[in-house]
Amino acid sequence: MVYLDNNATTPLDPAVAEKMSEFLKEHFGNPSSLYPIGREVKDIINEAREIIAKALGASRSEIVFTGSGTEADNFAIRGVLNAFPEKNEMITSAIEHPAVIQTANFLEQKGVKVSYVPVDEHGMIDLEFLKEAITPQTALISIMFANNELGTIQPIETVSKIAKEKGVLIHTDAVQSFGKIDVDVNALGVDLLSISAHKIYGPKGVGALYIRKGTKISPLIYGGHQEREMRAGTENTIGIVGFGEAVRVIKERGYKDKKRIEKLSKSLKRGVEEKIPKVKFNGHEKKRIKGTLNFSFLGLEAEAILLALATKEIYVSTGSACSEGAEEESHVLSAIGLRPEIARSSIRMSLGRFNTEEDIDIVLSELPEIVEKLRQISSFEIEED
Ligand SMILES: Cc1ncc(COP(=O)(O)O)c(C=O)c1O
Repeated sequence: MVYLDNNATTPLDPAVAEKMSEFLKEHFGNPSSLYPIGREVKDIINEAREIIAKALGASRSEIVFTGSGTEADNFAIRGVLNAFPEKNEMITSAIEHPAVIQTANFLEQKGVKVSYVPVDEHGMIDLEFLKEAITPQTALISIMFANNELGTIQPIETVSKIAKEKGVLIHTDAVQSFGKIDVDVNALGVDLLSISAHKIYGPKGVGALYIRKGTKISPLIYGGHQEREMRAGTENTIGIVGFGEAVRVIKERGYKDKKRIEKLSKSLKRGVEEKIPKVKFNGHEKKRIKGTLNFSFLGLEAEAILLALATKEIYVSTGSACSEGAEEESHVLSAIGLRPEIARSSIRMSLGRFNTEEDIDIVLSELPEIVEKLRQISSFEIEED
């Protein structure tokens, strides 16, 4: 199998699986219980919290565990809007993950005015538009750090400066950047930041929201006293343990993975561009999570390519996992100005820790032939811009 869909999810790292399995066998206590078997679990949760906080340049008390990256995004946005009832505006971008876009759409229905910052052809936000959109009514700016479909990295430090000058809170969805590039909450200057374990070789169903000390925010979920009353519900202990270990492994491996993924990605990109005619690369050449490659294969339907690759056990994506099976083309590709038929011809290949040179060789030997065959039977006229 050649797995090139690491932006959708990553395989569990063996060290994470081992840690989780040990924990499962040895601990069942409720972290809220005051006797030793409960306290032990609470301590283990806090060890994971400490590892994650440190990796982000935050302190332990600023990390709240959630049920996913999606919940962290919802918490940040709805939590801030709820905490500022006197303000009813927010700003986000046109290329956010559905976890943010759909939350913003929901708030719009409740009367919140949402400004969607447009992006250029590489997926970079329009900073002038952003500046102009801020009003005294703006409660929050939420701009993703790296995009899941294109990998484009936004200038979050600049966005934070703009936000600070106007006294507006800033959230960033760092689900696709954490573990791949430096994510330091102080260097970025953000007030809130979302992450998720299953994109970094940890388990599914656990995420976290960084909340800078002193930030006014309401909880999404009410109930017990867990997570300093910011997220009620008995903790997903096993998930949190795996999350902490996944981050520990990243820190241990340092830049090893980054360098290797960059190299593999470079040869894959070059190979595709050299071997396949009428291919359009989507995304930013430089300011990009390098392991994310998005190509339009002009004249084809992406789904046909995806299915043909799958018969060879090569797994890629037609965009974000959430738009899989959806009829309409990706909102991200539309936002960078791709015509619908070009957007629908686009494939995302996202590399990860476990990819090898052999994987790239396999893709480069299978993909050109698949594209050529599909083009022979395709009824589309290939028309380049
Ligand atoms: C940028 C981004 N934000 C949020 C999410 C949602 O994370 P989760 O799957 O943990 O809900 C994803 C997952 O695809 C993502 O890529």
